[in-house]
Amino acid sequence: MIQETIVTTISPDGLVHIAPMGIHINGDEYIILPFRPSTTLVNVLHSQTAVLNYCDDVRVFAGCLTGRRDWPLRAAEKISAPVLACALAHTEVQVIRIEDDPVRPKLFCTAVHSAHHAPFTGFNRAQFAVLEAAILVSRLTMLSQEKIASELAYLRIGFDKTAGDRERVAWDWLMAAIDEHNGAQP
Ligand SMILES: Cc1cc2nc3c(=O)[nH]c(=O)nc-3n(C[C@H](O)[C@H](O)[C@H](O)COP(=O)(O)O)c2cc1C
Repeated sequence: MIQETIVTTISPDGLVHIAPMGIHINGDEYIILPFRPSTTLVNVLHSQTAVLNYCDDVRVFAGCLTGRRDWPLRAAEKISAPVLACALAHTEVQVIRIEDDPVRPKLFCTAVHSAHHAPFTGFNRAQFAVLEAAILVSRLTMLSQEKIASELAYLRIGFDKTAGDRERVAWDWLMAAIDEHNGAQP
């Protein structure tokens, strides 16, 4: 099972880093898989810790992909990396084993603390659409404009029917990034 989370880490200089990451969860094992190069990877290798934030505010996902990484934080219980203030729940993890790889190392982690902060209020198709559009934005240089346009046309159906304010803000940030990328193409 892969859960789309926001991973918060801390650099050797004490700088906070926030990045969306799909975490593989097998029982009580959490695997972070950052593609090189990655600030998250550098930070986890140094601190051996991270916070996995479970978050339904999709502005954070879209924001991180469009240069908006300044989200409210608070202190974690057991580790130095902070918790995202809007997280519904979070897990503080510690690295137990690393499988190195030139493309995508595997960071096997175990939980050292977990907490719930707010209820999960159900699935929302616009949130799913924003997550998928954010993944497209993270692959803009690998995908054709035609592929992106056809995926967005499908995602827009559920988005238009179900979006609230947060989802619309997040979607607009992503569409602006796609327009900017397309405008810069020859
Ligand atoms: C929903 C979602 C899941 C993602 N999962 C991963 C992942 O598992 N590994 C990864 O390297 N990047 C993933 N990305 C892209 C990263 O968030 C983005 O490239 C980020 O800048 C990672 O690099 P960093 O550690 O240097 O910040 C994901 C993006 C989204 C929107």
